[in-house]
Amino acid sequence: MTEKDLLISWLNDAHGMENALIKVLDHQVKDAQDFPHVQAKLEQHLEQTRRHAEMVKGCIETLGGKTSTIKTGMATLFGQMQAISTGPAKDEMVKNALADYAAENFEIASYTALIRAAEDLNDQQTAAVCQQIRQEEEEMARWLQQNLPTLVQQTLKAVTTR
Ligand SMILES: [Fe+2]
Ligand SMILES: [Fe+2]
Repeated sequence: MTEKDLLISWLNDAHGMENALIKVLDHQVKDAQDFPHVQAKLEQHLEQTRRHAEMVKGCIETLGGKTSTIKTGMATLFGQMQAISTGPAKDEMVKNALADYAAENFEIASYTALIRAAEDLNDQQTAAVCQQIRQEEEEMARWLQQNLPTLVQQTLKAVTTR
């Protein structure tokens, strides 16, 4: 295995992660129908996530690699998040936000590693794409952190008035 092969394999992990998150976010957009402000943000990040998957695929192809459909590492876990996030629970908005916050931070870590690897291999193009993606993950993580307290308050209120 060469360094380039390893970079391609990490990009494939990121591609699998983005694809898994498309499914998770798709569910969450539906869960959030009573919270228009949250729903709009989730819809926006769903679009961004679809774009991330395409951008990462582009990097893989530019490097002469192929996207694989084998789910590795976090892609499998994120696939399971979907099962956690759906159910009759009335606190699903909070649970979804916690899972999303974890997912965004995992994405930030993944792209940080990819940027370093791409730079080490002198692949400025991949590094630039990953930097662009990471900015949107950071923005989403910040939004979640800022909005979590309000979501918790709203959920507590909804429970007591039910
Ligand atoms: Fe992403
Ligand atoms: Fe994300």
